[in-house]
Amino acid sequence: MSDIITVKAPVNIAVIKYWGKRDEDLILPLNDSVSATLDTSIMCAKTSVCARPEFKENEIWLNGKKETFQSPRLQNCLKEIKSRAAAENSVNEDFLQWKVRVCSENNFPTAAGLASSAAGYACLVTALAKLYKVKSDVSSIARLGSGSACRSVYGGFVRWHAGTNPDGTDSVASQIEGSAHWPEMHALILVVGDTKKKTSSTTGMRISTQTSELLKHRIKYCVPQRTDEIIQAIKQKDFPKFAEVTMKDSNQFHAVCLDSYPPFVYMTDVSHLIVDLIHKYNELSGSTKVAYTFDAGPNACLYLLEEEVPQVLSFIRHVFPSSNPELFVTGLKTNEVTLNPELKNICEPQAKDLIKYVIHTKVGEGPTEVTDGSHLLNDAGIPK
Ligand code: DP6
Repeated sequence: MSDIITVKAPVNIAVIKYWGKRDEDLILPLNDSVSATLDTSIMCAKTSVCARPEFKENEIWLNGKKETFQSPRLQNCLKEIKSRAAAENSVNEDFLQWKVRVCSENNFPTAAGLASSAAGYACLVTALAKLYKVKSDVSSIARLGSGSACRSVYGGFVRWHAGTNPDGTDSVASQIEGSAHWPEMHALILVVGDTKKKTSSTTGMRISTQTSELLKHRIKYCVPQRTDEIIQAIKQKDFPKFAEVTMKDSNQFHAVCLDSYPPFVYMTDVSHLIVDLIHKYNELSGSTKVAYTFDAGPNACLYLLEEEVPQVLSFIRHVFPSSNPELFVTGLKTNEVTLNPELKNICEPQAKDLIKYVIHTKVGEGPTEVTDGSHLLNDAGIPK
């Protein structure tokens, strides 16, 4: 039997955004956040880990490239897993001394600016927890890698509780509902072409925390109410409410970025056009059928029910023509439809390739162990 552990972990996209830290080292947030975890069969991180007495040092390979193990976030994750293992007495002393090898890959382009650190750290921490036989909740350890990663430890709809303890012990994620609760919930990720270097989340959050008055108001008044509202909407499967809160929260997060000093922006003209189109689409539909949300980049994530996907995809194709129409939509399959003239009239077709491609996915499960032997490390512990 192999001593290599391999895990797949999902991406998550927040509907109530995490923005701002009260502790940068422990990655403790200023506010609760809520997200949906997306299907690992479409987008995932995959990580193999093993520990052996003959390994001379800790080593890590990310997407085929050897990287340093010295990053404080990585070190913190390994340290915390080992101290849990020691507390739980789950492995022997020797095993704790052995060095580890980590090999990790994303099955989606990292260059697309998609939430890859969340999947990556959730995957790493889940794999290490299995290696060291840690049984307790690992969301607070994934959090040490990247805040949003703590939400990828669970499937379905997830809440990250900001917590109040200075040591972060109560800053953990919990599941609101599993993926089977609302299987009709799908997502379309619109990958917007953009090469501009953006402000990292970490830097952006720091500037907002230090300077934005709007962020203070958001944390005190808006987030607590929206969190209650969206949890209720999820439990009752109330799509229009879910969508409204999602869009308002995304808009407020980006308003906070502009309210920061100096300000920074993540959305581009194409992002703003998408916002405009979704509002017009909803207006014409007579109810809220689609929600948009944007993270720290120009890509849109649209949340919508499965029944709406064919028409929305046809609408996106109409406005954003592609020079490679066959490869424009990846992920889950769906038939598209002929657009009715009113939808066509919302907007003229734009220049080609403003949207590079679309990933069609749905809400899915949390991390799972890969048991078919398709490890990323060979028997000698070297990347394949
Ligand atoms: C806009 O989790 O990437 O996507 O904790 O500094 O690693 P660090 O930041 P990160 O920030 C994510 C911010 C966001 C909103 C969200 O996912 O809630």
